[in-house]
Amino acid sequence: MLDPYKIRKDFPMYQNHITMQGHPLVWLDNASTTFKPYQVIEKIDYYYNYGTANSHRGDYDLCYGVDVQIMNTRKAVAKLINCEWNEVVFTAGTTASINLIASGYAKHHLKEGDEIIVSEAEHASNLLPWFDVCKATGAKLVFIELTPEGRLAPENLEKAISDKTRIVSLAQIGNVLGYLAPIKEMVKIAHQHGAVFCLDGAQTVPHIKVDVKELDCDFLSFSGHKMLGPTGIGVLYGKYDILKQTEPYEMGGGMNNKFFCTGEATYLDPPYKFEAGTQNIAGIFGLEAAVNYLLDLGMENIEEYERWLKKYAIEKLSKLDNITIYNSQSESGIVTFNIKDVFAQDAATFLNHKGIACRSGQHCAKVLIDFLKTPATVRASFYFYNTTEDIDALVDAVKDGGNFLDAFFN
Ligand code: ALA
Repeated sequence: MLDPYKIRKDFPMYQNHITMQGHPLVWLDNASTTFKPYQVIEKIDYYYNYGTANSHRGDYDLCYGVDVQIMNTRKAVAKLINCEWNEVVFTAGTTASINLIASGYAKHHLKEGDEIIVSEAEHASNLLPWFDVCKATGAKLVFIELTPEGRLAPENLEKAISDKTRIVSLAQIGNVLGYLAPIKEMVKIAHQHGAVFCLDGAQTVPHIKVDVKELDCDFLSFSGHKMLGPTGIGVLYGKYDILKQTEPYEMGGGMNNKFFCTGEATYLDPPYKFEAGTQNIAGIFGLEAAVNYLLDLGMENIEEYERWLKKYAIEKLSKLDNITIYNSQSESGIVTFNIKDVFAQDAATFLNHKGIACRSGQHCAKVLIDFLKTPATVRASFYFYNTTEDIDALVDAVKDGGNFLDAFFN
């Protein structure tokens, strides 16, 4: 099993003894973003201190060095998710990736009467771009029913899908309930109806082995900053043939072949046609180090450790009778809960007072609140550097929730 204490030696946010409200920091907001190891920071530093140049724009060594690095990052990502290097498009993050699919693929291929399937558990980034596609094309959004527990189920996809369905866009693990969806079966159903499957991997690629060939999804979106990498860099994977059928939605330098005063232009092949302008080069440098760090630890080991930690947390939290847990059975390191009679944002403020960082509110999944029948929740989300001591600190803090105000001042 992974040893988080040993792992913490790689993370400045632990080595620098950061405190919050006078307490050692307990970081339990990893579904939002993760800490970065020295390896990632040093790689970014290297680019700025020793390797600065633009990419694909110079016939000198420094530029060549950047081009080699960009290819190395593409290859590292390709190894992580099991695809080809030219199926890896760099974007600003999951949101930008899904917007690229919506604007570059869906708006060009969908028409009035077509349907897009999503779920109530989706993050804003996997709903709002589809609202926009529907407005632009006349297509209709169809919500797949969640199971009473809040899961995605193939049988409910069977009920929602029809021959009008052109796109199915779902998260493999939702950012609030944290259930692992049976994506392989759902992709099969989508393909039987001729629909394209877009997978939101923001909460899975950092935590479990995601193999796009095995899942057979058509697109996969994820962010670097949720997997040890820098902010502002992410990935859109697309099957090469589908990337070829996708139009760029940003035009400019670095993505064109030729253009003329007549307005005619031809574009480069994927992935380059989607990468107009100077890219987030420092981010791309850092992303390779992040991916290699994860590959060195082993995605199976990360998943095993996080499941173990989640089980530990649920065992402890479920002994407290003032806590409502919304997703005890979920497979990921996400625990969503409320302290009885305490509004979620007050609870998170109280946890902050104890040095514990948890997210509260609707977590950008604003239609899920009707399903959960609560206006807001508190979310603790783990990564492989969290320890049982972090969980104990959370449990100790929330057990005083019934005497919330007294606890606040103790
Ligand atoms: N998507 C991030 C979260 O769920 C920001 O917290």
